[in-house]
Amino acid sequence: MRWYGILLSALAIAPAHSIYVDEAFNIDFHQALLGTPHTTFFHKPDSSSNAALLYSLSDKAVLGALNPRDGSLVWRQAIAGQPRENATDAYLIAGEDDGKITTAFEKTVTTWDASDGRLVWTHGIKGRSRAIGLQAVPVLGSSTDGAVQDVILLTQPQKEGGGYVVSRLGGDGSGERWRHSDFGAKLDAVVSIATSPKHVYHVTKSSGIISGQKTQVVVLDMTTGKQIKEYTVSLDAESVSFDGELVAGSSSAAPFMITSDKPYKTLKLNVLGNTKVATVTLEDKTEDVLSVKVHYARGPKALPHFLAHVQTATRHWAEVYHINTASGEATRAYSLPATQEASAFSASTNGEKVFFTRVTSTEVIVYSSESHGHLGRWTRTQLGVGYASSSEPVSATAEVASRDVANIAVRVAVAAPEGSWYMIRNGDTQWSRTEMLAYADMAAWSDDLAADSLVQELQEEISVDPATAYVNRVYRHATELRHLPAYLMQLPQKMFGSSNDEVTARQNLIGTKSLILKTKQNKLFSVSGVTGKLQWHTDLSPVLPAESTVRSLATQEGRITMYNSEGSVIVVNATTGQLIENKSGSTPVNRLVELPGSPASTILKVDEDGTPQFASDLAPSVPDEGNTVMTIDKSGAVSGWTVGTTISKTWTFSPPNAKIVDITARPAHDPIASIGRVLGDRSVLYKYFTPNLALLTAVSSTTLTIYLIDAVTGTILHTSSHPGLLPTSPISTIISENWFAYTFTSTNPTTHAITPQLIISELYESSLPNDRGALSSQTNYSSFGPDATTKPHVISAAFVLTEPIANLTVTQTAQGITNRQLLAYLPHSHAIASIPRHILDARRPIDRDPTTAEIEEGLFRYDPSLPLNPQQFLSHSREVMGINSIMTAPTLLESTSMVFAFGHDVFGTQVAPSQTFDVLGRGFKKVQLVGTVVALYFGVLGVRPLVRRKVVERGWM
Ligand SMILES: *[C@@H]1O[C@H](CO)[C@@H](O)[C@H](O)[C@H]1NC(C)=O
Ligand SMILES: *[C@@H]1O[C@H](CO)[C@@H](O)[C@H](O)[C@H]1NC(C)=O
Ligand SMILES: *[C@@H]1O[C@H](CO)[C@@H](O)[C@H](O)[C@H]1NC(C)=O
Ligand SMILES: *[C@@H]1O[C@H](CO)[C@@H](O)[C@H](O)[C@H]1NC(C)=O
Repeated sequence: MRWYGILLSALAIAPAHSIYVDEAFNIDFHQALLGTPHTTFFHKPDSSSNAALLYSLSDKAVLGALNPRDGSLVWRQAIAGQPRENATDAYLIAGEDDGKITTAFEKTVTTWDASDGRLVWTHGIKGRSRAIGLQAVPVLGSSTDGAVQDVILLTQPQKEGGGYVVSRLGGDGSGERWRHSDFGAKLDAVVSIATSPKHVYHVTKSSGIISGQKTQVVVLDMTTGKQIKEYTVSLDAESVSFDGELVAGSSSAAPFMITSDKPYKTLKLNVLGNTKVATVTLEDKTEDVLSVKVHYARGPKALPHFLAHVQTATRHWAEVYHINTASGEATRAYSLPATQEASAFSASTNGEKVFFTRVTSTEVIVYSSESHGHLGRWTRTQLGVGYASSSEPVSATAEVASRDVANIAVRVAVAAPEGSWYMIRNGDTQWSRTEMLAYADMAAWSDDLAADSLVQELQEEISVDPATAYVNRVYRHATELRHLPAYLMQLPQKMFGSSNDEVTARQNLIGTKSLILKTKQNKLFSVSGVTGKLQWHTDLSPVLPAESTVRSLATQEGRITMYNSEGSVIVVNATTGQLIENKSGSTPVNRLVELPGSPASTILKVDEDGTPQFASDLAPSVPDEGNTVMTIDKSGAVSGWTVGTTISKTWTFSPPNAKIVDITARPAHDPIASIGRVLGDRSVLYKYFTPNLALLTAVSSTTLTIYLIDAVTGTILHTSSHPGLLPTSPISTIISENWFAYTFTSTNPTTHAITPQLIISELYESSLPNDRGALSSQTNYSSFGPDATTKPHVISAAFVLTEPIANLTVTQTAQGITNRQLLAYLPHSHAIASIPRHILDARRPIDRDPTTAEIEEGLFRYDPSLPLNPQQFLSHSREVMGINSIMTAPTLLESTSMVFAFGHDVFGTQVAPSQTFDVLGRGFKKVQLVGTVVALYFGVLGVRPLVRRKVVERGWM
């Protein structure tokens, strides 16, 4: 029949989707961060390339190369292995043309390939010294093509009496060529090095009466390291060089020292190698100068010109000076106009020429160092990079390209006060990076309230009488009809839309959640939990009392509440970041506990000694009965407190010869979907549950002990002890449902082998199936009853890992029906791994194959080694650095849990541990379904006369 033909062709239209497309890089986001830039420059990765990359070493000791065009990361290395805090004494230099860049931090000097970040060589600093200076050996001319450049390293002893050492390291990784030691300087002296093409200058400014506040300069021969001369000059003031070093203009033809003291009327300078101290007087603008910063050009060929950036309370201006290298004098060449706008200046070179670039919040202007006429001037435009691009610049790094005087272009990387970074090309803002997120130390999920308006309406309908609800609903449907034409118009596009739309559709189902992040600098950021996009940011410092730190961050009903260490409270709107209120408080807080209560949740403040008390200075509220709180005091003992109308201590526990370092309780949202575990033969093993379970982590010098306790009575339900704990290795614990897991690293005392381990323990009411143990006959249960000491039946399994893991977390879903997954951070691989719970089953048969019943239950043979495969990495191929915490949250879909990790990088994704059973996958063929329905409809229409005739004919029979 022809109808069948139509049907068949309708079924054949839909294309085949046989290849499984992974959702990686579609449902997740990752911001690979560097941190606040501390040394930044444009540099060509090798002599053959035309385009420069932007290299930056951050104050977290993370080195990165960025593409200046779009701000994307070309490569990145944490020079200390992991991001580090306060790493301001890390050094970064680039050779002229040899395709390498070199860093020094603490005890290591490392050279990296400038184009791909590969490690070329490292040099370990011997003895008890660390790097405090690194300079390139300047080369003149291009005779060094193919040659590698050496570096000059300065090290400081860690103990008084040790020597400061200046050494020249071979650029080929061959180690020291020569060294010069100085045992004279004290540890509190300010010591620097500078290089010129022929010489190395070792400058020591000693503080103290005997040295007479003089600065000693030792001049060394660049090739041999022999001392050529030594002299002292009286330069005792504060250095005003841009990077805070004692010497400016290193690697140039005429490095110099420049100092000044408040109120900065004059600058004193000494051209190194010359004993003369020159004095220059700054212009007097009848206002106190607050700061002076000197910018100079690097490069051995660059003219010896520098710019002094002068700042008063209301104005910024700059003065440009030329140094006469022969006489050691400096003369003012010209001044740049004073403006009320804040300015940032940058010096850059192009061969011999030196350019100064001035960036204000409205303009970018380029000047030549020779004369005051500007070479280029651009008005700044936003170009859609709204974030931070209008704020005042703090520092700038410019690259000026000039083919001739008329044709000049400039790119400036600018740091904004709130820590973001942006690039301006000829006045246009091209991109920005929110590096501040690398300092996040607290985070909380925030539900997007606006998204749930339908839920609100439905709830309203439930709460009113049926008649009103009916009218409401009719009205709602009537209003919705208005959107029907638009919806119908979009329908074809939705039907045949690309796969990206599917991701969007899935995300709409998941619901929208935001993340609120607080940084160490007391900035608050909100990012979308689905895309990672920045939504708003705000600075808490104006409202946060001095010396106070935020101790807790919680979101509720669109408000973010922060409790601070001196007792005050700040409340911020979660959708806009606007301050709602700031209340001062009187009780200092060390830790904060929030308990359910009425009319609002009750806040307990825990003081330094570990004693909780009601936060009566805040909103008064009565907690619900039967809450327990545990605190750790300074000696490492734990106390249990019962909170009702009063707070009373119920128990204390102090483990012998050990300190409790951590308490882990079940997550606040930990729903239980099934109370038993069905075995292969359909019998049930009942799970042991109590909401009051907690894990105590006790650590002595080499032993880790985990106590499972009942928090109400302090009864110890289970103990496990592990000797050979490797001190300083991460220990992480997690408890959920009826199981707990922990990880640590142990060493074998004889072989010194290091073994990271993961232990899992499951709790059951009885060892026998279909048995509820001692609790079977009870209808009520009391923690204080005689049966309360009934211990769970614990089954444990230990797994050996290939590398340490940290920050254990468990996935969360709305009902807890979906399987759970254990999430962990791999600090060595820089990855986030998910370990399915069924692999970590403590009931896996040991030393034998599973029986048929066990196979049916999903058990397989136990293997003590647990490989962490890259297939299990939620982060896939991406390198997620410095994670300090992983957070999970349920979504509107039962199958899916949201995951967010922060610490240095920020990473977010969604996991579906039991597959997305409640969503139609990509394999679902919409076109085919609709085609079939349409074909069936026409088929029925076509067959109807036939059938009717048959029925009529049958009636006649
Ligand atoms: C880093 O410096 C800040 C301020 O100087 C200080 O509060 C903090 O403790 C330092 N952090 C570390 C790890 O030293
Ligand atoms: C937060 O700000 C939005 C937009 O101004 C407003 O609609 C909302 O009511 C505010 N929320 C709170 C809790 O004040
Ligand atoms: C709240 O912040 C404002 C500044 O925005 C400040 O003037 C006021 O003193 C603060 N109030 C309290 C109680 O800290
Ligand atoms: C997360 O793991 C790191 C080690 O990678 C550890 O230093 C840090 O303390 C952990 N964070 C928490 C909150 O336990």
